[in-house]
Amino acid sequence: MKNLLVTGAAGFIGSNFVRYMIHKYPDYNVTVFDKLTYAGNLDNLKPVEDNPRYAFVHGDIAERAAVRAALAAHDIDTIVNFAAESHVDRSIMDPDAFIHSNSFGVYVLLDEGLKAGIERFHQVSTDEVYGSIKEGFFKEGDPFEPNSPYAASKAGGELMVRAYHITHGMNTVITRGSNTFGPYQYPEKVMPFFLTEALDDRPLPLYGDGMQVRDWLYVDDHCSAIDLVLHEGEPGEAYNVGGEHEMHNIDLTRALLQILGKPESLIRFVADRPGHDGRYALDCGKLYSLGFEHSFSFESALAATVEWYKANEWWWRKIKTGEYLEYYKKQYAERMAKAQSSDSTGSAD
Ligand code: NAD
Ligand code: DAU
Repeated sequence: MKNLLVTGAAGFIGSNFVRYMIHKYPDYNVTVFDKLTYAGNLDNLKPVEDNPRYAFVHGDIAERAAVRAALAAHDIDTIVNFAAESHVDRSIMDPDAFIHSNSFGVYVLLDEGLKAGIERFHQVSTDEVYGSIKEGFFKEGDPFEPNSPYAASKAGGELMVRAYHITHGMNTVITRGSNTFGPYQYPEKVMPFFLTEALDDRPLPLYGDGMQVRDWLYVDDHCSAIDLVLHEGEPGEAYNVGGEHEMHNIDLTRALLQILGKPESLIRFVADRPGHDGRYALDCGKLYSLGFEHSFSFESALAATVEWYKANEWWWRKIKTGEYLEYYKKQYAERMAKAQSSDSTGSAD
């Protein structure tokens, strides 16, 4: 493993991963391959842009010729695929791009990787492929029951990874991560969205009753788990990567408001996400058996994340313009008009 192609790394987790890998492995070359969709942002890669072991290629993983050219030009032996449409709400509004990138794109990347004789293919997947669980924890062998177009498109991509391993003997691994947070996360996902809105004293649209549960994983821990599985995972296997920190959405929102010193009256209860998954929870025993340990407590990671967004307004203020505002209007305008405040429902008490 020497020449890595990291796809989708102008986004949130991928850009954190590239910084992590370049610093940790002084003999690795890292080529980022990214379509630069609304979520792709070269600002995320500024910390490594002058590093001689880093290169950037602008391209779509679903376009064969572009993938083939990048694999050849950079003598790639390893692919780590982060490239995806990643936001559930957008997948409900307009699923086409999700099927294109998360299912078809994964197939093209696998197929070109196979033809180029790559040594390892790592697919970055999600706990959402399992669906929702009321009690207990999902294990890697559990059936897929994806509930959103996003989750279904990710499940489709994963099944193709499995098929290329079984049919062609490709050396593949998969990680299924839980809700990730940290610096450089596009402010449509609940944590950076609520954080940046609250900094501006704007109302926070909490879906339904806010009692859904997510398992929060700090991005640095997610990156080190991917690194471990990339190097040590068994070919053909999938590994759950959780944060071991479940929270109701309402409690996460309150924790954010408390750190920021903002009032709970900013909370608005709005119309729920259709098909909203009630709870995600992972059994991570298989990952621990490779030797994984979390390095960050939720509290310290949350505090660091809040500090990062406070110190990097230059980063998120330019995002919250143009297309972002169009999306905000489509997703939230009607919901907000009909919203209930935490005071009027009393349910936030
Ligand atoms: P993100 O939306 O921040 O970034 C996605 C990146 O992929 C962007 O840079 C975008 O330009 C690029 N991209 C999209 N389609 C592409 C295509 N066809 N070709 C090339 N590049 C393309 O996403 P993220 O939150 O960093 O998630 C990264 C990966 O991790 C995704 O595969 C996602 O499913 C998975 N994941 C995310 C989380 C989470 O909580 N954010 C949790 C588990 C798994
Ligand atoms: O579990 C892993 C997944 O986590 C990843 O695969 C996805 O890429 C990532 O987007 C995330 O999916 P979620 O749908 O869980 O994340 P999101 O930040 O959109 O929402 C988190 C919770 O907060 C969810 O229960 C919905 C709720 N929410 C979200 C938004 C954007 C709100 O109540 N209000 C909001 O405005």
